[in-house]
Amino acid sequence: VYPELGGRVAVVTGAAGGLGRVTAQRLASLGVHVACADIDEEAVSDTADMVRSSGARSLASRVDITSTEEVNRWRDEVHAELGPPSLILNVAGSLDRRMMDQLDQAGFMRSVEINAGGTYLVTRTFAPDAVAHGAGRVVNVASIAGFIGYPYPGYAASKAAVLNLTRTLVLDFWGTGVTVNAVCPGAMDTPMIKREAIPLMNAKTPIGRVATADDVAGVIEFLCSAAAACVNGTSVVVDGGATAVFRYFET
Ligand SMILES: NC(=O)c1ccc[n+]([C@@H]2O[C@H](COP(=O)([O-])OP(=O)(O)OC[C@H]3O[C@@H](n4cnc5c(N)ncnc54)[C@H](O)[C@@H]3O)[C@@H](O)[C@H]2O)c1
Repeated sequence: VYPELGGRVAVVTGAAGGLGRVTAQRLASLGVHVACADIDEEAVSDTADMVRSSGARSLASRVDITSTEEVNRWRDEVHAELGPPSLILNVAGSLDRRMMDQLDQAGFMRSVEINAGGTYLVTRTFAPDAVAHGAGRVVNVASIAGFIGYPYPGYAASKAAVLNLTRTLVLDFWGTGVTVNAVCPGAMDTPMIKREAIPLMNAKTPIGRVATADDVAGVIEFLCSAAAACVNGTSVVVDGGATAVFRYFET
């Protein structure tokens, strides 16, 4: 599928594991060259090795997406090693599991800084490359926590910000051929969620199981493809139907 993606260059944040790693691997299998970034230097370098093993070119960089200096340095490395990217995949995210009684203002702002600010910074930094390509793609990983009430205010508000940013950036890319979309995973079987909670979450999901990283990466891949050329400023929920229904009577 998607032969048009072969030879393109992608930047993937949060590529050390979970969804970022699977996204990098799936893109590599389509012939996309992948620049992988994460704060976990060792694991991101393993991801880059996996990308290379499928024949694509890769680069591993230790990048904190909240640092303008580090993101600028990453852009220079990507340009030098792989060339300008046309696919900007904002996968990195951080889940602060504190409710209001524990989450102070600094903690709240840190979630916003990473999840929304980092997405903005990386997108803005590589935007001229995506525009120059003519069919660039930005895909942001939000969450169902961005549009429903959710126990952790910092995380939920930051993901809501990602969803609005996804729509708002459509104005910034107007007429350039670059589309901006988001995916909203529900519970996804990655290191971010607690393993012991999976059976309960499976039971609460209409399809009978939580998403795998592969389920979500498949949607990201579609949003990068020519088949999604007219999909712009929207989000795709990948939660097995969890937020589609509400049940008063069943437990
Ligand atoms: N797992 C879930 O249930 C779930 C549900 C909805 C949304 N998401 C979102 O999916 C995305 C991927 O998460 P995952 O489930 O693969 O979990 P994960 O924890 O494996 O991946 C997140 C990655 O982001 C990296 N990261 C965190 N802060 C960073 C920073 N400042 N700079 C650079 N990298 C940073 C982490 O090191 C980690 O590798 C996240 O945006 C997350 O919020 C996950």
